[in-house]
Amino acid sequence: MISDKTRAEMREIIARYPEPRSALLPMLHLVQSEEGHVSPEGIEVCAELLDITAAEVAAVATFYTMYKRRPVGDYHVGVCTNTLCAVMGGDAIFSSLKDHLGIGNDETTEDGSITLEHVECNAACDFAPVVMVNWEFFDNMTPQRARKLVDDLRAGVEVEADRGARVCTWRQAERVLAGFPDGRADEGPASGEASLVGLRLAHERGWSAVGGGEGTAPDLTTRPSTPAEATRAAEQSDTQRAHSESRAAEVGSGTGAGPDKRADAPEGKRPGGAASNGEGEKGQR
Ligand code: FES
Repeated sequence: MISDKTRAEMREIIARYPEPRSALLPMLHLVQSEEGHVSPEGIEVCAELLDITAAEVAAVATFYTMYKRRPVGDYHVGVCTNTLCAVMGGDAIFSSLKDHLGIGNDETTEDGSITLEHVECNAACDFAPVVMVNWEFFDNMTPQRARKLVDDLRAGVEVEADRGARVCTWRQAERVLAGFPDGRADEGPASGEASLVGLRLAHERGWSAVGGGEGTAPDLTTRPSTPAEATRAAEQSDTQRAHSESRAAEVGSGTGAGPDKRADAPEGKRPGGAASNGEGEKGQR
């Protein structure tokens, strides 16, 4: 049942947005934090508070896979079986967990502790095969390690993600996704070795992104320790991206200084290619 406290928190979420209906996604996470899934009552309450129809809320809730139609257990265990993870062992992990837990896809163990689900690519392919527990990453998994993971979760052992915080319950995680932090966002490693290899090589060899200038690659191996540092890092990143985009736009519009922009460039190499000589593609041959 959706409590008065949850209704009040939904109003708090709505107040964060210029358009009330923009609050729907976090509101649905808040429903899941209370009900364990997007319940019919949760849909009605969201519709009522946003002054939209229940059908509109249901359309959103059934579109995104992070919203569940059936109650989820204490821990949602998602095994990536998308192409790369599948060939790297994801299918074997999923099959092993099904046997070990005695449940199938999108089912929950009788004790209500584990819900098992196939998940699609989680943008962590460099750590394949990947398993997620309540959206925290467990990298380079094996069937054996996955079985131990679910055994630990069921036994109440504290489990730390490979990149991220200690694992909390599904409902607690949903509350964080609704926009109510638990103060543990900076817990655990922020990134893993596989993701940092390219950056390290760039630093060693003096490479930088186009338009970024030498030595301007951000140091992603350390995490900003204060909110002010995090803001500065984000601003620096935005500025570098803006410079790169401006530079790309200049080159694209012919105002840049690239060799192809010279007025005396050969016909086939002028900006605009075929269009520049008025004869189309055929005229360049
Ligand atoms: S295929 Fe599994 S994280 Fe990308």
